[in-house]
Amino acid sequence: MKKTIIALDGHSSCGKSTTAKQVAKKLGYAFIDTGAMYRAVSLYFHENHITLTNPKEVEKALSEVHITFHFNEHRGASDVYLNGLNVEEEIRKMYISQMVSEVSAITVVRKAMVAQQQKMAKHRGVVMDGRDIGTKVFPDAEVKVFMTADPTIRAGRRQQELLSKGEMVDLDVIIENLKKRDIIDSTREEGPLSQANDAVLMDTSFMTIDEQVDFVIQLHDSVLARL
Ligand code: DC
Repeated sequence: MKKTIIALDGHSSCGKSTTAKQVAKKLGYAFIDTGAMYRAVSLYFHENHITLTNPKEVEKALSEVHITFHFNEHRGASDVYLNGLNVEEEIRKMYISQMVSEVSAITVVRKAMVAQQQKMAKHRGVVMDGRDIGTKVFPDAEVKVFMTADPTIRAGRRQQELLSKGEMVDLDVIIENLKKRDIIDSTREEGPLSQANDAVLMDTSFMTIDEQVDFVIQLHDSVLARL
């Protein structure tokens, strides 16, 4: 069967990763969480006290960052590794969310991540979630979905996710963080968050994960039938 690239872009906390993971499982595709890559870079910069406004420091640090994904049987999904260390849990914490948009707006960081993402999916058969997959990383992706949802609903979901990992964060703090990230992500020069002309919009405010997965699978099947 012909394999495609499924690009799932959109705002933070719209259910992109959860949907992507399940779609990948159903289709026997690989799942690549590109947000995890920017989060891993952020963690490295944080641990090494990198000044984000110093291009030389940033470039040197970036050359020391090696990101890989390894399947975790227990979770049924891939964990992200930074220089051989599993950082899946650490990169989801609030302090990383608070710096990741700034890190991912740096042009050299984006160039390095985009090049790696293009290599990872060159054989297709991949579901990739992010912000610029359908516009920049794979403008030729066969299936493109742009996900959005009401900001308060997104914040509530994010709060539950953090709570399930033992981190209690005020809803107001999360709403502020999501709003700030939306602005930085959509207004940066390189690979801003935007809906590709040929992407299908999916508002997940009142959709269950199963409905989101079905939506993407149906779109994929209809595209595949035309290939
Ligand atoms: O999907 P996420 O919330 O884990 O992503 C974390 C941050 O990474 C998000 O604020 C924007 C950035 N990002 C990006 O700029 N480009 C991508 N392809 C994926 C994520």
